[in-house]
Amino acid sequence: MISKTMEAALNKQINREFYSAFLYLSMSAYFETVNLKGFAKWMRVQAKEERAHAVKIYDYMIARGGRVSLEAIEAPKVKWASADKVFEEAYAHEQKVTGMINALVDLAIKEKDHATFEMLQWFVKEQVEEEEQTSEILAQIKILGDVIGHLFFLDHQLAKRE
Ligand code: FEO
Repeated sequence: MISKTMEAALNKQINREFYSAFLYLSMSAYFETVNLKGFAKWMRVQAKEERAHAVKIYDYMIARGGRVSLEAIEAPKVKWASADKVFEEAYAHEQKVTGMINALVDLAIKEKDHATFEMLQWFVKEQVEEEEQTSEILAQIKILGDVIGHLFFLDHQLAKRE
C-alpha cells in the first residue's frame, strides 16, 4: 500500500507527464506549420514517450493499490518564434522535469518507500537521456544558424526517429 502523500505526489507527476505529451505534440504541430516535417516527427515520437511515462506511473500506482486521480491538463503554448526557441524550451522543460523526479525520489526516501524509490530509478536514468537529447539538438540548431533552409539536413536526420 502506498501512502497518501506519495499517492498525491505521483498523481501530480502523472499529470505533468501528460502535460509534457501535450507540450511536445503542440511543438510538433508548430513544426508542421513551418514545414519542418522531421522536427515534427521527432516531437510526435517524444509526445508518445511522455504518454508512456504517465502510464508507467499509472500502472505502478494500480499495482501498489493506490488511487489514480486524473486531473485537467494545462493547455500548452501553440506558437514559437523559431526552431531554436522550441528546443530551448524543450531543454528547459526537461531540466524542470528532472527536478520533479528528484523531488519524488527525496520524498520516497523520506517516507522509507523502497518500492517507489526503485520505480523512480528508471525515471532518473531516463531524465539523463531526455536532457542530453534536447540539449544536443539545440546545439546542432545553433551551429546551423536557425535558418529554415539550413535546417533541412537536421530535419532529415530527425525524421528517422522511431
Ligand atoms: Fe517524461 Fe521528458 O520526461
